[in-house]
Amino acid sequence: MAFSAVLHPVFLLAMLPLRASLTEVLGEPFQLTPEILNVTVESKLQQVNLQWTVPNLTHQELNMVFQIEISRMKTSNIIWVENYSAPVKWNQVLHWNWKSEIPLECVAHFIRIRTMVDDAKYPLQRSWSSWTPWEEVSVQVSVGPNTFLIFPEDKLLEEGSNVTMCLMYGQYVYNISCKLQEKPIHREQLDSHVSLMKLNNVVFHNIRGTNINCQAMNATKKLLGTVLFVSKILEEPKNFSCETQDFKTLKCSWEPGVDTALAWDQQESQTYSLYESFSGRQELSDHRNSHTWQITEDSQETYNFTLTAKNNLRKRSVNLIFNLTHRVHQKPPHDVTLETLSATEANMTWKVYSRGDNYMLLCQLELQHEREVIHAPNVSVHVSGNYLFSDLEPDTEYKARVCCADANHFWKWSDWAQKAFTTPEAAPLQAPDAWRHVRSENGSHVVTLFWKPLLKSQANGKIVFYDIVVENQDRPTESKHYRVQAPALGTQLSLDLSSYKIHITANNSVGASPESVMILSNDSGHEEVHEKRIKGTKDGFHISWEPSSGAALGYVVDWCEHSREQHCDLQWKKLGPNTTSTMVTSDAFKPGVRYNFRIFERSLQQDAQLIGRQTGYTQEQAPLENPKVSVSNSTSNSFILNWPAYASDFQSAFIEGYRVYLKSKDMQCHPKGRRTILPDKSVLCEYDIEDPKQKTFTVENLQPESTYEYLVVPYTSAGLGPNETFARVTTPDENSHRLLQIILPMTLCVLLIIIACYWKSQWVKEKCYPDIPNPYKSSILSLIKSKKNPHLIMHVKDCIPDVLEVINKVEGPKTQRIVSGKAHAEDVPSKPLSVPTENSSSGPVPCVFFENFTYDQSAFDVGSHGLVPGPLKDTPLQLGLLTPPDKLLNVLGKDYMKSLAESPTEETSLIYVSQLASPMCGDKDNLATNPPMPVHCSEYKMQMAVPGRLASPVLSENNNPTSRTLSGQGEQ
Ligand SMILES: *[C@@H]1O[C@H](CO)[C@@H](O)[C@H](O)[C@H]1NC(C)=O
Ligand SMILES: *[C@@H]1O[C@H](CO)[C@@H](O)[C@H](O)[C@H]1NC(C)=O
Ligand SMILES: *[C@@H]1O[C@H](CO)[C@@H](O)[C@H](O)[C@H]1NC(C)=O
Repeated sequence: MAFSAVLHPVFLLAMLPLRASLTEVLGEPFQLTPEILNVTVESKLQQVNLQWTVPNLTHQELNMVFQIEISRMKTSNIIWVENYSAPVKWNQVLHWNWKSEIPLECVAHFIRIRTMVDDAKYPLQRSWSSWTPWEEVSVQVSVGPNTFLIFPEDKLLEEGSNVTMCLMYGQYVYNISCKLQEKPIHREQLDSHVSLMKLNNVVFHNIRGTNINCQAMNATKKLLGTVLFVSKILEEPKNFSCETQDFKTLKCSWEPGVDTALAWDQQESQTYSLYESFSGRQELSDHRNSHTWQITEDSQETYNFTLTAKNNLRKRSVNLIFNLTHRVHQKPPHDVTLETLSATEANMTWKVYSRGDNYMLLCQLELQHEREVIHAPNVSVHVSGNYLFSDLEPDTEYKARVCCADANHFWKWSDWAQKAFTTPEAAPLQAPDAWRHVRSENGSHVVTLFWKPLLKSQANGKIVFYDIVVENQDRPTESKHYRVQAPALGTQLSLDLSSYKIHITANNSVGASPESVMILSNDSGHEEVHEKRIKGTKDGFHISWEPSSGAALGYVVDWCEHSREQHCDLQWKKLGPNTTSTMVTSDAFKPGVRYNFRIFERSLQQDAQLIGRQTGYTQEQAPLENPKVSVSNSTSNSFILNWPAYASDFQSAFIEGYRVYLKSKDMQCHPKGRRTILPDKSVLCEYDIEDPKQKTFTVENLQPESTYEYLVVPYTSAGLGPNETFARVTTPDENSHRLLQIILPMTLCVLLIIIACYWKSQWVKEKCYPDIPNPYKSSILSLIKSKKNPHLIMHVKDCIPDVLEVINKVEGPKTQRIVSGKAHAEDVPSKPLSVPTENSSSGPVPCVFFENFTYDQSAFDVGSHGLVPGPLKDTPLQLGLLTPPDKLLNVLGKDYMKSLAESPTEETSLIYVSQLASPMCGDKDNLATNPPMPVHCSEYKMQMAVPGRLASPVLSENNNPTSRTLSGQGEQ
């Protein structure tokens, strides 16, 4: 023993008696080596539990120090040394535990222990005993080839803590990679088949934990994972307090903080328990944030509570000590009543829960009107309280409420007890603000009365009606009473021209207001005052006036907010006697609207005298429309433009004048005008009329028969009227009126002549060109008659041709026809037969035949077709007749028959020179004047005389032979 080796023999000798006594006390030999009883592992907690005893301990109790060593992997690798002190009794089993950082499955640990007496009673015993032998601490886990394992499994830990995970893998497994929520984890190799992953400061991800997944090559199970259940840190409960309302229960409450529950039953929500130390009672709370504690002992005044929150990882506690009487939360007062004593007073009463006469409560009252506290007195109360609210408004809703608290040990106000009430109505306080508008109409006054509604504070209740008393001042006995139901704010009266006094009162259910008095004098509505123009601003109008007399009671300014003469929304402002100006503002004022203000002076007699009119705009605007212009006095070189006046109330500004535009192709502008040449080369003249009253404009120096365009626009300070299209005016011709003087009589003359002509046309026709010539009037017949020839044959030799003319030579074998005959002095013109020359202008001279059949139906019958050769067929068509050929004969028979055929029997035919139809008198024959085809020959055909036997007088009378002009080709 080193102890004895260093001791000097002399000292040793001196010590001997002591040693002897020690040995005596502790017994021999003095050897106190601990003995390990049991080493167990709690692998879930990564905890090693050590149990040991100190055998051969003879003393009752001894303070001892134990030194414990832990080594990892091999005994020489000591990773932990700890001294543990404890009083040890005889035969006592000692416990110690150690938490490993590394899961105990992964690697083997070894543990040993030694001891030393550390007791003041035995100072000399301070030396370590020998070590116990190493005890191996391990959890048997076998890892086969091609497999790997992760530890710890499903670890529960707090947010912010560190954890070391280990990976054990068997033979052939390599290339392992692990991820924490998709983030790769660094690994450290511990030995050939174990590696470590250190995760610091883990975060709470969600209540379902944080996943760790590993993959390895060559493993039978490719993917392996585990979950870290990271819990929120349990918080200490806050604001822990307890109170009582009735001394039967204590209501304790606290703020619990975050819920630390985790999914998959890994951790429940934390529990809360209360422990009261004086009574020693402990109760688990059913709620997260409160607990009701039954008061069982009346005598207990002081309470000491410990509130503990606990989950799988941690416990947290708070403490509270209080005196029960200082934690009294009163119940709200009850039996609250409110009694209105008058329109302005109300009495409130209430009762409280008291604990005897000595118990004093403090009550707080609140009087609210429209959610606003207007009065808040405090009252001390034993059992019941009352309070009188005064200075209330009539006809007003109020809410009164009360709460109380212990006056001696104030802890908390009780909840409120409240009651609403309404004060009764009172008579209106003020006379209505009234005004009038007077209009003279048919010898009477139309008086429109207006008044403003009383403010709520003035009305003292609901206004039901307005009373109007109209007092005739000239005949005081005749006063009239009118009643207007609310909410009307005006009425209209028709009064004669007497002087009147009008009284207006507002009435509610309780009574009438003071009266508003107005006097209408005889001349009301007739005052003539000058109108002044004023300029408003965006905010309104500044109205000022001259005080007219010293005795004014005040002034009134009125205006129509919506300016329509018939429906005036009259507004007024009453002003004191010393004012001479006011600012009139209104949201209703609009730009471009004219407002007319009237200023009245109120006299002591309540009469109002108009002293001024003012008119203006808040903002002037350009005119919205142009006047309708008419043109008058239009002459060939001037005209006058006229336009009507605007209604002044509808003007968007004061009209300052007019601008006249004149436009023409060529125009001389008046020197006062401005001349502009427009792009289309016409001239534009502008004239400004600076007098808005002038509403005519004379345009002079114009050209006759020219078109002028004009436009008249008004202008205001804000600009011109709209740019509209020009209207046109055309100046008349200079001589047109003279022409008219000539043309009219001439037209009349011509008309008269035409009428006369028509009248006399039958006579003229008869004279000039009868439809059917009368053969008895024929000179030939008269000749024949004179010779008394029974055969009525005119021999060729009898007819001495006076003219013979070959007009055209006809080609062909046929002989030229010679027209011959004895000229009759009356019928045959002395001129050569050159009639066709009429048509010569239109081309070659057509072949014209003149013939005159003295027609007889029988001649056709006898002569058969030989008399009517081919051309007959054409004739109707050429005549434009649409008669079929078989009927043609009839037609021809009835009318004028023409045969183009040469007569085969000259002996039996009478051939004579045709009467030449006068082109002047032959309108019926005009058909032939436009021959369809030009013919290069013109000749007189021989005319056939009807055989004498057939020439009956009847025939002669009915079928007058007539001449016919025909034209055609190939007639032969
Ligand atoms: C060791 O402890 C375990 C668990 O506490 C118990 O089951 C066992 O019997 C103990 N062994 C001895 C030798 O005390
Ligand atoms: C304890 O005492 C017994 C006899 O009393 C003895 O056999 C044993 O060896 C002692 N143990 C130690 C550790 O000294
Ligand atoms: C976790 O590890 C870090 C770094 O090693 C250390 O600073 C921190 O204190 C550790 N936290 C806990 C709770 O042990």
